Amino acid sequence: MDTKLMKESIDTNVYHIPTGVTVPLHGHQAHDEVFYCIEGSGYGLLSDTEVKLTVGDVFVAHAGDLHGLRSDDNLHVVAVMIPVDRIICRCKKMSYSDIQKAVVNGARTIDDIKEVTNAGTGCTRCIKEIEEILIMVCKCKGVSKDTILEAIKNGANTVEKVSDVTEAGTGCGKCKVEVQTLIDTNK
Ligand code: FES
Ligand code: FES
Repeated sequence: MDTKLMKESIDTNVYHIPTGVTVPLHGHQAHDEVFYCIEGSGYGLLSDTEVKLTVGDVFVAHAGDLHGLRSDDNLHVVAVMIPVDRIICRCKKMSYSDIQKAVVNGARTIDDIKEVTNAGTGCTRCIKEIEEILIMVCKCKGVSKDTILEAIKNGANTVEKVSDVTEAGTGCGKCKVEVQTLIDTNK
């Protein structure tokens, strides 16, 4: 990829998480996310461990890793989202974005994916991961139903709040109706 395009595909934010607040576990399927603590303190959370964050510390969540943040003292972090395209089907060399593209274009079942991409037509070891992609509520940002339910459980009671925490709905917006339904049925 050309350097200019690479630069444009990297997204940088600064987040302030007030003392005592936890950003619940969520995952990004197509991005690694790097957090750099610039003020305050807290923890980077993974599903099985916590990483202490004080000024100058770095916390990395790789694509697919469930991760969150907890603030002990007005945690401020720079968050850098770096696109990665992980291989899902090794036999047919099909990446996450190949399968995601097929889903966005209408593939709804494993057979559809097999037909369009050939993924899953070899040893079948990748089928479980393809199933996980198929059940994503937000196809653009790769956000699962479980991640959205976790955000709702932790207090996100509007589509905007769910988007802030999980990024669901921040692409084409088509999933917002389903996010609203999940909020309505799980309040
Ligand atoms: S890894 Fe996909 S068919 Fe073997
Ligand atoms: S499907 Fe969620 S923003 Fe496009």
